[in-house]
Amino acid sequence: VPISNIRNFCIIAHIDHGKSTLADKLLQMTGTVESRDMKEQFLDNMDLERERGITIKLQAARMRFIYENEPYCLNLIDTPGHVDFSYEVSRSLAACEGALLVVDASQGVEAQTLANVYLALENNLEIIPVLNKIDLPGAEPSRVCQEIEEIVGLDCSNAIYASAKEGIGITEILNAIVQRIPPPRDTAGRPLRALIFDSYYDPYRGVIVYFRVIDGTIKKGDRVLFMASGKDYYADELGVLSPNQLQVDQLYAGEVGFLSASIRSVADARVGDTITHFNRKAEQSLPGYKEATPMFEPETSSAMGFGFRCGFLGLLHMEIVQERLEREYSLSLITTAPSVVYRVNCIDGETVECSNPSLLPEPGKRRSIEEPFVKIELLTPKDYIGSLMELAQDRRGIFKEMKYITENRASIIYELPLAEMVGDFFDQLKSRSKGYASMEYSFIGYTESDLIKLDILINGDRVEPLATIVHKDKAYSVGRALTQKLKELIPRQMFKVPIQATIGSKVIASEAISAIRKDVLAKCYGGDISRKKKLLKKQAEGKKRMKAIGKVDVPQEAFMAVLKLE
Ligand code: GTP
Repeated sequence: VPISNIRNFCIIAHIDHGKSTLADKLLQMTGTVESRDMKEQFLDNMDLERERGITIKLQAARMRFIYENEPYCLNLIDTPGHVDFSYEVSRSLAACEGALLVVDASQGVEAQTLANVYLALENNLEIIPVLNKIDLPGAEPSRVCQEIEEIVGLDCSNAIYASAKEGIGITEILNAIVQRIPPPRDTAGRPLRALIFDSYYDPYRGVIVYFRVIDGTIKKGDRVLFMASGKDYYADELGVLSPNQLQVDQLYAGEVGFLSASIRSVADARVGDTITHFNRKAEQSLPGYKEATPMFEPETSSAMGFGFRCGFLGLLHMEIVQERLEREYSLSLITTAPSVVYRVNCIDGETVECSNPSLLPEPGKRRSIEEPFVKIELLTPKDYIGSLMELAQDRRGIFKEMKYITENRASIIYELPLAEMVGDFFDQLKSRSKGYASMEYSFIGYTESDLIKLDILINGDRVEPLATIVHKDKAYSVGRALTQKLKELIPRQMFKVPIQATIGSKVIASEAISAIRKDVLAKCYGGDISRKKKLLKKQAEGKKRMKAIGKVDVPQEAFMAVLKLE
């Protein structure tokens, strides 16, 4: 189709507001995927995603749609809805000219959605509001429209009322995509610039890169250069996603596709990087690229042996990586609690960055410690304001502002230490608000705080991975809670095991696990061999996730205990 008949769009939606259901309906309605093939939602096709019921991985799909007897090519670029992935979202948005803003008509706008709408507006995207789930008895599309107008300032006079589940409003949405979203600019004559919005590693073909051609043309076999990484490759394979991969020979400005080039490292072709021709380079790369901060660094510790220190965007991101490594690579991993990067100003004038509490310079050597702070915005129904403020206060939050955005919903802004947020803050927010509150955060800078190192001794041995950096005022309560939690989590051993929390040489809390002689088979009377085998197997599996610290077997959960303190 000519470029004037191409539309590139994404869907902005909060988790659970119906993005995947809607995407499926769009694919079905355009005949991209036969409904009999759609056993599962197409865009949500990773096992892990299905189990967790959320979309993590970005993908794309090309649809053909006939509008007033003319064929159109609609490219849907998926965006993740979770708060941990805002950079990926911003790159997907930058690959589009328009976005569907899907809001659950029985709920209203959520903080993360807002953040993504602002990103979309910054990228000059045409936004089509879609009020979903109008089939629900509690749906109030006109109230939610008003809310969107008030909060975002987005004109909702031509918002579409839809039910992705019942298939209501789907044709209207497709029509609106053609009518309201502008086609890409025709810049096929310029030097190639293609924006990477996603990639994944295929063990046979190397890294598969998903991109949007912004300027120029790319052909199969071209020698391409990734401008940020400086790496160049021959594009052996070029194709589109329909939504399965379909090979093509060329892609022009405005089109969306994928390439493979036997790229061995994902770092060579990162999301946000610009693809250009090796022999006809674009003068400037596309804006918005950010270096990856998450890193994997080899690390050894006397307690844990060899391992890696990894950077994650959030707890969910960490859990997903861990689960994927376990499922897809059959690794058995022990992960330890996350920490943030502290800046330690030493007396000799040096400043060291320290993410590992056990490497914190001695108290006598340091003058001050700075920690990263974030600004968080919470959106919540008014009933939960008190409880959420209590939570933020408890996490050393500094209250900044509160305002009612509608009669019933408030926005609350706090500044708080990142260390207080990396744990279960998000889970707490959800459980205290019965799932109704949402949040958005951004890094604001480093601030000096009164921090000290809290050590944990198990059976008299200092356990490095359990050391944490805490605020002085919280040291005693954290020490007590942590030793109690560890007592619950560490199974009884054949001998008595003392657990102590210390600051320097001072013990501030202590517990002990009493001895037991554990024999799982003792419970099996009679000669049921298969039951015995089952128990032994279970025990072996349990053992896999244990780490021997000195003579004590410590289970995986214990290394995360600091996140689960009451
Ligand atoms: P993530 O994948 O986590 O981003 O969520 P999502 O936004 O893709 O939501 P999804 O499509 O998985 O829908 C969430 C839930 O809402 C599912 O149980 C859907 O069946 C349901 N749902 C989606 N659309 C509608 C609708 O129009 N009406 C009703 N009643 N339920 C819907």
